[in-house]
Amino acid sequence: MTMSFRAAFGREPDGRWAAPGRVNLIGEHVDYAAGLCLPLALPQRTVVAAARRDDGRVRLRSTSEQAGWDGPLEEIGRGTPEGWAGYAAGVLWALRAAGHPVCGIDLLVGDSVPPGAGLSSSAALECAVAVAVDELAGLGLAGTDAGRALLATACQRAENEVVGAPTGGMDQAAALRCTARHVLLLDCLDWSAQQVPLDLTAAGLTLLVIDTRVRHQLADGQYGRRRDSVERAAAALGVAALREASPDDLATLHDPVQRRRARHVVTEIARVREVADLLRQRRVREIGPLLDASHASLRDDYEVSCAELDTAVTAARQAGALGARMTGGGFGGSAIALVTSDAADRVADSVRAAFERAGHREPSFLLAVPSPGAGRLD
Ligand code: GLA
Repeated sequence: MTMSFRAAFGREPDGRWAAPGRVNLIGEHVDYAAGLCLPLALPQRTVVAAARRDDGRVRLRSTSEQAGWDGPLEEIGRGTPEGWAGYAAGVLWALRAAGHPVCGIDLLVGDSVPPGAGLSSSAALECAVAVAVDELAGLGLAGTDAGRALLATACQRAENEVVGAPTGGMDQAAALRCTARHVLLLDCLDWSAQQVPLDLTAAGLTLLVIDTRVRHQLADGQYGRRRDSVERAAAALGVAALREASPDDLATLHDPVQRRRARHVVTEIARVREVADLLRQRRVREIGPLLDASHASLRDDYEVSCAELDTAVTAARQAGALGARMTGGGFGGSAIALVTSDAADRVADSVRAAFERAGHREPSFLLAVPSPGAGRLD
C-alpha cells in the first residue's frame, strides 16, 4: 500500500489506520429509537494510508474504485463528493462543522470490509478516516472513549448529511468503541456504553456469519420508511422516542402496521437487556432463544428480512445452531448463528445445501471474533 500511495500522490504516507466491520449480536433497528444494541467489531477491517496537507486540500483515492476526488475542504457538503468518497470526505466536513481544526489530507483506501455484506463497510471507512484525521490534525479524540464517542457522532453526521443515508449511529459507535473479547452494550439515548465480556472460546462456541450475498437495491428507501414509521409511532404515543414506550402502551396505536413496527422496537430492546444479563453471568449458551425471537420479530413485525436470510436462519437452526438471526439493516446482507465450535462446519454445510435447494446463490461464511475498534496500524 505504501507503493500505491507513492504512485497516487508522489509522496510517502504519514501512517496507516484501520477500522473494523461489525455484526450486531442483538438490538436491531432500535438505535434510531434511542434503544439499546449489542454490536461487536470483526477482524475484517478497512485500511487507509494518509498524509497531512497544510494547504487545506483533500485528495482521496481507493485501490478498488476508479473514481477519486480532489478539492478544498470548503467544497465538501451535502451530496459532495458523490459515491464512496462522500463517506470519507464527509467525516472531514462533520468534524469541521463541530468546530475541530481539521487539516487537508492525501488519503488512499486499501483493503476493505466486504461491501454490501451488511457488515458496515461504510462505517468502517468513515471511522478509519476519523482516526487518521484525529491524529494528523492533532485533535486527540481517539485516546479516550468519550473522544471516540464524539468521532462516532461526526461519522454518523457524515453519513446522514453528506451521503444522505438516514442511518442510526450503532455502526460508527461499534467501529470506534468496541474492544477485543467484548460486545458493546450501547445505549443510543445518550451514547453511553459498557463493555460486556463475550468469551466464545471459553464457552466452546462460535459465532458464524452467513453472508447471503444479496444486495437489495431498495434497502435505503425501505430503511427510511421504517425509521419514519417508528418516529410517527413515538409521536402518536406522545413520547420522544419509542424507547420510552411500554408494551401496554402499544394497544393505543390504531394503525396495525405501525403497531407491529413499534412492537418490534419495544420487544427488541427488552431482549437486549436479557441477553446482556445472561452474558454478564457467562450464560452465553442461553441467549439462543432470544436470537431466534429477534429474527421472528424482524421478519414478521418489522418486515426487513428476505427469503435468503430466512433460509439461512432456518437451516442453521435445523442443523443444531443454538440460535440464529439476521443482523444489520436487513433486506439481504448477513445472518449470524451461534453454534458449538465442533458443529460450525456442519452448520455451514447445511446452510449451503439449503441455499442450493432453494435456488439461492451460494452464501459465504466468516467467523465473528470480537475484535478491537479503530486505530493506527503503523
Ligand atoms: C444499519 C444502520 C444502523 C442500524 C442497523 C439496524 O446497519 O446503519 O444504524 O439502524 O441498520 O439495526
